[in-house]
Amino acid sequence: MSGFPEGFLWGAATAAYQIEGSPLADGAGASIWHRFTHDPRLMIATGDTGDVACDHYNRMESDVELMKRLGLQAYRFSVSWSRVLPEGTGRVNEAGLDFYRRLVDRLLEAGIEPLATLYHWDLPAALDDRGGWLNRESAEWFAEYAAVMFGALDGKVKKWATLNEPWVVADGGYLNGVLAPGHRSIFECAIVSRNLMRAHGRAVQAYRECGAHEVGLVINIEPKYPASDRPEDLAATARADAYMNRQYFDPALLGTCPAELREIYGEAWEDWSAEDLALCCQPVDFVGINYYTRSVVRASDTAWPLFAEHVVQEGAPHTETDWEVFPEAMTRTLLWFRERYGDLPVYIMENGAAFSDPATSEADGIFDEDRCQYLTEHIAAVRDAIAAGVDIRGYMVWSLFDNLEWALGYAKRFGIVHVDYETLARTPKRSAALYREIIASNGTEL
Ligand code: NOJ
Repeated sequence: MSGFPEGFLWGAATAAYQIEGSPLADGAGASIWHRFTHDPRLMIATGDTGDVACDHYNRMESDVELMKRLGLQAYRFSVSWSRVLPEGTGRVNEAGLDFYRRLVDRLLEAGIEPLATLYHWDLPAALDDRGGWLNRESAEWFAEYAAVMFGALDGKVKKWATLNEPWVVADGGYLNGVLAPGHRSIFECAIVSRNLMRAHGRAVQAYRECGAHEVGLVINIEPKYPASDRPEDLAATARADAYMNRQYFDPALLGTCPAELREIYGEAWEDWSAEDLALCCQPVDFVGINYYTRSVVRASDTAWPLFAEHVVQEGAPHTETDWEVFPEAMTRTLLWFRERYGDLPVYIMENGAAFSDPATSEADGIFDEDRCQYLTEHIAAVRDAIAAGVDIRGYMVWSLFDNLEWALGYAKRFGIVHVDYETLARTPKRSAALYREIIASNGTEL
């Protein structure tokens, strides 16, 4: 008895802009990430772009063969909206859509279940020109695009996610400016947060009109631990938790907004109308949770707008993105989720770690021991949550490949498969072999 239910789905995840390359091929429109990485002001310090990335757009067939060799049961990918609808709405680019049709067909032939995410951060640039997520019409644009995808692939894709990590879209893209489209306004952050959730709601409605399987959304949760019992640290922790962990799940699953948001956003906050809340709160068939790390929080007089700051845990293990390795918080997160939001089916849609791989040669393979340990410990944490009664149905490693880690460029490697960015050769790391064994034993071999 492994602790994982029969039929538990083991897979790996990627996202379009991070791996595909060829962003303008075959009639695709530009996305905001294409624009962002090509901005002469060098929005990404490393100067990296997604022009080639892992060249998955041209190597898709052999990549699916590789997934099969790795024993994956599922593959979570995202669709590039502007490949399918170059202007974001209206005209469908059949050649772009065809790429995803072929991908899904190859996956099914290989016995791998496709899990599709509609929005993993690459808004069509043409829609950004119309205000992007700041425009309330964005919910309709998204529903139109979603309906195109459901119509084309719902017979074959049985699990759809609307949005990936809306918090990162709003915070990174519209408050801190480190991600596309690079804005820095708390007013915009508040508006975008609401429009993203309205778009989610509209896409779920569109799904109910034509879909026959399952639809949900993917949220990143980073549990917040108070640095002390001082009331100001407890209050700061609650603000950080509301902003990052409850801001999106509360409207989607409870039809409410966390009370702390009013204080955090200040004059940028506008109460959501009952109509908007009802739209966001559409019944979903599952939720996706992305978990990487926890954060210890203390009050700060200067850390606007949360007045809460992260306290680095000196001496604790950290990944290369400086994220503390703290697997027990993953179990805690999953229990917290069930307690707050009820007994919904949960998929871990992302979990993984950036570590620099030791120097390697063909004969040695790549011995990414740190990643192996991270994965083993976190998969055990998922098992503990299942034992405590959380209905977890699957686990997707982030990521299948080393890829473009957004503003951090190609330097941070999350893959269980190494990508040589000169030759584009793929080399499975030891973590891929380990994961293959874990999958084959349904988690008994941990
Ligand atoms: C979350 C995002 O969904 C993904 O795109 C990113 O690469 C990983 N986390 C790692 O930061």
